[in-house]
Amino acid sequence: MSSVQSQPVSSGLTRAAMFLVVRVNEGEASRDAVREFCADASAFKRAVGFRDTTAQLSCIIGFGSDAWDRLFGAPRPKELHPFREIRGVHHAVSTPGDILFHIRASRMDMCFELATQIIDRLGDAVSIVDEVHGFKYFDDRDLLGFVDGTENPEGNAATEATLIGQEDAAFAGGSYVIVQKYLHDLAKWNAVPVETQEKFIGRAKLSDIEQKDSEKASYAHNVLTNIVDENGVQQQILRDNMPFGDIGKGEFGTYFIGYAKSPSTTEKMLENMFVGSPPGNYDRLLDFSRAVTGTLFFVPTSTFLDDVGADGAAS
Ligand code: HEM
Repeated sequence: MSSVQSQPVSSGLTRAAMFLVVRVNEGEASRDAVREFCADASAFKRAVGFRDTTAQLSCIIGFGSDAWDRLFGAPRPKELHPFREIRGVHHAVSTPGDILFHIRASRMDMCFELATQIIDRLGDAVSIVDEVHGFKYFDDRDLLGFVDGTENPEGNAATEATLIGQEDAAFAGGSYVIVQKYLHDLAKWNAVPVETQEKFIGRAKLSDIEQKDSEKASYAHNVLTNIVDENGVQQQILRDNMPFGDIGKGEFGTYFIGYAKSPSTTEKMLENMFVGSPPGNYDRLLDFSRAVTGTLFFVPTSTFLDDVGADGAAS
């Protein structure tokens, strides 16, 4: 049996989260500093996390396709590639990003402290491309007012949905993650009758009860994101979306984050949402929500990160 330890991809949803996307700056020194940090990453999490062990602090680190080649070289995860933009009825943009830090805890101060310590250590080796501080909104609602996360797989199903197995044995225990930052036009959304909003989502707004299949619109969000393989088996992803906002800038958003053992599952959902299934039968949520980022990362195992060093994992 392998003793490979995965990063805590399916650790429970928390009240607070930070999403940091950084670029690795040019030069050997930046590359070396990032590699050195990889081996120390778990110690940073332990040091900050121990200050309140009840706060469930966790940090998941993912790497973009180009960054992988530069930092670790061969071998590379089979399905790692830059996020592919989609031009359908709506546009899913592809935006740059070398490393994702997905930091979660029940307290924002713990997330903030860990992010500060990480960025302080990485110093001039990285530049922050995007930083989002997410919060839970009442009973796990997004800013559109719907409960978000209900149908997430749990326990073994979450592990099965997210962790790579023997299909890419060298990277077993790893995962893929796609992030997209959405900005909502809330004035436009709030002008839509609740019954119509419920048709867009496929669930009741107040009670969160799922509509019967016979009641659902073909373009309902939970119809277009329901993916089955050629054997009729549902392909799931694990989401941990978070609301965020900046009232002064008029920004009200959802940070979408989806983990999966293959990026193709999430990509298929995006295709259905942005192009439509069949084409033209697109996700009406996108008439009110604009994706302003889109990036794919590979999440190696903790064991891989611990082993990165001068002569460690692929140099
Ligand atoms: C504006 C961004 C988004 C918002 C506000 C949003 C909101 C929601 C809500 C309210 C639900 C119903 C409750 C639940 O099961 O969680 C849901 C379900 C779901 N969403 Fe999204 N979502 C967004 C983007 C995405 C994207 C980009 C994907 C995938 C690429 C996705 C995949 C899913 C899946 C797989 C489900 C569960 C469907 C089911 O099996 O019932 N969502 N989303």
